[in-house]
Amino acid sequence: MIGAKIEGVGAYLPPKVVTNSDLEKIMDTSDEWIRKRTGIEERRWVDHESTSALAYQASLLALERAQVSKDEIDLIIFATLSPDHDFPGAGCFLQERLGLPGVPALDIRQQCTGFIYGLSIANTYIKSGEYRKILLVGAEVHSKGLDKSPKGRDISVLFGDGAGAVVIGAHPVEDKGCDSHIYSSHLHADGRFAKELWIAAPGTSEDFEDRLNRQMVDDGLHYGYMNGKKVFAHATKSMVAAVMEALEYNQMDVSQVDLFLFHQANLRINSMVARELGISEDRVFNTIMKYGNTTAATIPIGMNDAIAAGKLQPGMLVMTAAFGSGFTWGSTLLRY
Ligand code: ACO
Repeated sequence: MIGAKIEGVGAYLPPKVVTNSDLEKIMDTSDEWIRKRTGIEERRWVDHESTSALAYQASLLALERAQVSKDEIDLIIFATLSPDHDFPGAGCFLQERLGLPGVPALDIRQQCTGFIYGLSIANTYIKSGEYRKILLVGAEVHSKGLDKSPKGRDISVLFGDGAGAVVIGAHPVEDKGCDSHIYSSHLHADGRFAKELWIAAPGTSEDFEDRLNRQMVDDGLHYGYMNGKKVFAHATKSMVAAVMEALEYNQMDVSQVDLFLFHQANLRINSMVARELGISEDRVFNTIMKYGNTTAATIPIGMNDAIAAGKLQPGMLVMTAAFGSGFTWGSTLLRY
């Protein structure tokens, strides 16, 4: 059979480091509060770059490491909640930067679960034979849209900027248990919770006369809102369920997984997920301390850093899982 294999991984984090102490100077918050509740010590903020600019850097690295020429790419999938512009999608801006006119560019909007949805789409296209090389990118610029007033401080301290990219290619899989490929993805959403973690405006909701007007900006509707406690409870439960679903589907158990790469929303969420699954925390690769929550970029950045740290090596069985706004959640089991 033909399987989808991750051929190269790249990431780009803007160089500007913003520590919790730096935030103390511009917001009513404290290093102690942020560390204790989230595990975050610092994050990266852009100076002025756009989301597609970060994605471009991560993509170049992924292509180089995959030893794939950009001209071999026949689909771009771009996962982000912070696109350069409302439309067209950031995928078109990345495609223009890469100089690939004519190559399809698909934006997906599944927030923190965006990369998992992207892996599923890439896997399905490759297995169908429609495309042979796909560039999948997750990238975010959060720092240009944070509410630094006391109203927004619960959410604004969590997020950072960054990008991660993977090149996924079609490969023959002879031994399903040994050869590198994506085993399966398991996707979920529950729109009943859409307003528990969201940005209301700009938008065309029945509640609005205009997509965006001065009043909406004055009311802060263009900033993120989060019901932190609800997110915490659902994230823990849903990520554990998504991991178990992938294991059951593949008739495996938790001891066979070499590395767990979870979305990085909050260190306490990941510790709780690890505890529920009965796995030691050294099998979970966390980056939230350094980068905060980079939403759709988090999992490919984690892959990039795990490879650099020698924690992710070819042939390893990797479980990824994420939870985010929507609510959306899911998992992917793959052999790297
Ligand atoms: N700095 C200092 N104090 C703050 C801050 C801040 N940045 N934010 C809120 N506070 C204050 C509140 O005003 C409140 O003060 P009060 O007691 O005087 O009223 C106090 O801290 C406690 O606020 P809570 O909201 O009850 O804090 P909680 O213990 O629930 O922790 C947190 C908040 C960390 C957001 C928690 O709910 C959580 O971890 N939720 C998970 C959400 C998450 O991880 N989201 C990531 C993005 S979504 C995703 O990626 C899936």
